[in-house]
Amino acid sequence: MGAAAHLGIKLGEYDAAIRTLIPHYEELIAAAGAAVGATARTAPAVVDLGTGSGALAHAILKARPKARLVGIDEDAGMLTMAEKRLRGRLETVHGNFEETAIPRCDVISASFALHHIPTGRRKAAMYQRCFNALRPGGVIVSADCCLASSTALKQSHRAAWLGHLQAHHSRAKAEKYLRTWAKEDVYFTLDREVELLKEAGFGVEIAFRKTCFAVVVGLK
Ligand SMILES: C[S@@+](CC[C@H](N)C(=O)[O-])C[C@H]1O[C@@H](n2cnc3c(N)ncnc32)[C@H](O)[C@@H]1O
Repeated sequence: MGAAAHLGIKLGEYDAAIRTLIPHYEELIAAAGAAVGATARTAPAVVDLGTGSGALAHAILKARPKARLVGIDEDAGMLTMAEKRLRGRLETVHGNFEETAIPRCDVISASFALHHIPTGRRKAAMYQRCFNALRPGGVIVSADCCLASSTALKQSHRAAWLGHLQAHHSRAKAEKYLRTWAKEDVYFTLDREVELLKEAGFGVEIAFRKTCFAVVVGLK
């Protein structure tokens, strides 16, 4: 299934629609872009996993204008949008990021992409591949939904997400979105994400946290 179909939107509407679906989307992308500052390199080689329409790659260029960017995505339509947005600054690779070789690099980034990895075992393997691909001093930056560990907080974060959806969509549609994504996407707790990154060898920092959304940074 293409990314737009998964989200229940039309491909050309992705950039407008994603803001109605994900609370704090712009803040998260900006924070993830800025987090690339954790690498000392001024012209880092960056691999953006699940690059979509290129929002994060674009934000990374703001923080590191000399960055060399590769975007991997299995949705050709999304990659075409990313190529238009990045105008010659992004090399695209059409493929599954769990299977495609990750080139040697200084930064691996992802926004709202790694929740498509369905199991902890596969996510651990992905983080290990990322660790192995990064040069010493490299970083992995991921912006995504990372659940709270407490049930009460989890419920309050879900209510906040529903509230954001209902500001843009009917209550029925908002609830359907959350039900559908709960079946298709796999969110781990922030604690578990940190553990998985540490198990792969990373030191971990949290660059941004608002309700259930976070920018997690792993340092090699
Ligand atoms: C919700 S979109 C996020 C796009 C973009 N990073 C953003 O923040 O707007 C998820 C993207 O990840 C891609 N994706 C999901 N699983 C993938 C996989 N296993 N391999 C490659 N791309 C994948 C989808 O095609 C989609 O473009």
